[in-house]
Amino acid sequence: MEITTLFFYFASFLFIVLFKSLIKNFLFPSNGKQLPLPPGSMGYPYIGETFQMYSQDPSLFFANKIKRYGAMFKSHILGCPCVMISSPEAAKFVLNKSQLFKPTFPASKERMLGKQAIFFHQGNYHANLRRLVLRSFMPEAIKSIVPNIESIAQTCLKSWDGNLITTYLEMKTFTFNVALLSIFGKDEILYREDLKRCYYTLEKGYNSMPINLPGTLFHKAMKARKELAQILEQIISTRRCKKQVYNDLLASFMDEKAGLSDEQISDNIIGVIFAARDTTASVLTWIVKYLGENPSVLESVTEEQMSIIKGKQENGEEIGLNWEDTKNMPITSRVIQETLRVASILSFTFREATEDVEYQGYLIPKGWKVLPLFRNIHHSPENFKEPEKFDPSRFEVAPKPNTFMPFGNGVHACPGNELAKLEILVLVHHLTTKYRLVYSTIIIIFDNEFVRITMLM
Ligand code: HEM
Repeated sequence: MEITTLFFYFASFLFIVLFKSLIKNFLFPSNGKQLPLPPGSMGYPYIGETFQMYSQDPSLFFANKIKRYGAMFKSHILGCPCVMISSPEAAKFVLNKSQLFKPTFPASKERMLGKQAIFFHQGNYHANLRRLVLRSFMPEAIKSIVPNIESIAQTCLKSWDGNLITTYLEMKTFTFNVALLSIFGKDEILYREDLKRCYYTLEKGYNSMPINLPGTLFHKAMKARKELAQILEQIISTRRCKKQVYNDLLASFMDEKAGLSDEQISDNIIGVIFAARDTTASVLTWIVKYLGENPSVLESVTEEQMSIIKGKQENGEEIGLNWEDTKNMPITSRVIQETLRVASILSFTFREATEDVEYQGYLIPKGWKVLPLFRNIHHSPENFKEPEKFDPSRFEVAPKPNTFMPFGNGVHACPGNELAKLEILVLVHHLTTKYRLVYSTIIIIFDNEFVRITMLM
C-alpha cells in the first residue's frame, strides 16, 4: 500500500473518531450516557435566552415554554445551562434527592448573607442547623410568644392609624420585629434599632451589581454586613456573661451541644432574618390587596375574627389571642393558603445536579441548574381549576399531592412556616376587627401598595 493511501485511511479514521466524539459531546455533554437532553432551546451562544426571559414577564416565558415543550425543558439563563421543571412529581423528585441536587446561589449572595448560612449547605452540618432551627420554630416553641407577636402587631397598627402607608414597607417592619423576637426573645427590643439600621443597608445592596468599590451599593452592603456581624458578636458575648436561661433561636444556636462557632451563629442569624422578613411581608401585602378586591371574602374573615372576640367575652376569657384561637380561624387560614398559591412569592428555586441524572428518559447533566417552577405548578389548570381566580374556598378540599408547595419540599423546606402563618393570622385578626382599610390608588411597584388605615370607632 502506498504511503499516501495509508495516510488517507489514517486521516479518515481520525476524522470519523473526532467527529463522533464532537457530536456526542454536543448532544450528551457529560460522561456520554446515551440519553437525550430534555427538549427546549439554548438560545444564543453565551447569553442563551436571558434577554427573552427578562424582556417579558418570566411567568409568561415559562408558560410559553411549557406549552411548547412540556413540563420539563432546557434553557440557558444568566450564563448557566438549566432544566426547568413544572410537574409536581418532578419538583418533588429534585427537592427530595438531596444527594443528586444541591442548593446553589451566586457567590456574591453567599458572601453577603454569610457562607455558613443554612441555605448553602448539605449533609451533617445542614442537618444539625436544621434541627436547631426547627426546634425553635415548631408549634410547641412558638405557642408562648403569641402575646408578644400580638403586642408587635398592635404597635405597628397604631402607628399606621389614619395615615397613608406603603403596605409592603410597613409589613416589613412588622415581620422584621417578629423575626427578632423569635431570635432574641425578650432582648429583641434592645437590639432592634442597631440591627435594623445595618440590615436595611444590607438589603439595599443585595440585588445590586456585585462590584465591591467605595460608593457602590454593594460596597455599602458589605460594610453593613460586617457591622451586623460585630453587633451579633457583642450580643453573643453579653449573653455568655449573663448566664441567664433563654428559650429562643440564639439560645438554641449557642447551646454547647450545637457545636457552632460565633461566625456560624451570626451567619445563620442573618440568614434567618433574610428568610423570614420579606417573604412574610410580601404575603401580608398581597392579603391586604386581595381582601380589598374581594369584599365578600373580607366580610367572612371579619365575621370569623369578630366571633373569636365575642366567644371570649361570652366565656369571660382574657381578651388577648392565644395559640388555640389561632387554630380556630379556618376561613382566614384558607385566605392565607389561596394568597400563597396565587401570589406564589417564591416563583421558583435553584438546585444544581451533582452528577449526571437520568429522569424520565432524559439526561440532566452534572453541573446544570435545575429550577422547580412553583408558580407554574400553582397556576396550572390541571392542578387548580380557574387558577387565576382568587378563591379561598378551593382549599375546603385538600389539593392534589405535591401541587401546593409554597414552603418548598424536602430537606430544605421552610422550617419557619408555622411562625409565618401565626404572625399573619395575628395581624389579620387585629386589622379586620379594629380597623377599616381605605384603599388608595393601588400602585404595584415591586409589591408596594398604598392603603389608609383608620381605627374603627
Ligand atoms: C410566608 C412566608 C414564607 C415563605 C413563603 C417561605 C418559603 C420558603 C421556601 C419555599 C423555602 C425553601 C427554599 C428552597 O428549597 O430552595 C424556605 C426555606 C427557608 N425558610 Fe422560609 N418562607 C417563609 C417564611 C419564613 C420564616 C418566617 C422563617 C424563619 C422564621 C423562614 C426560614 C427559612 C429558612 C431558614 C429556610 C432554609 C431552610 C433550609 O435550607 O434547610 N421562612 N422558605
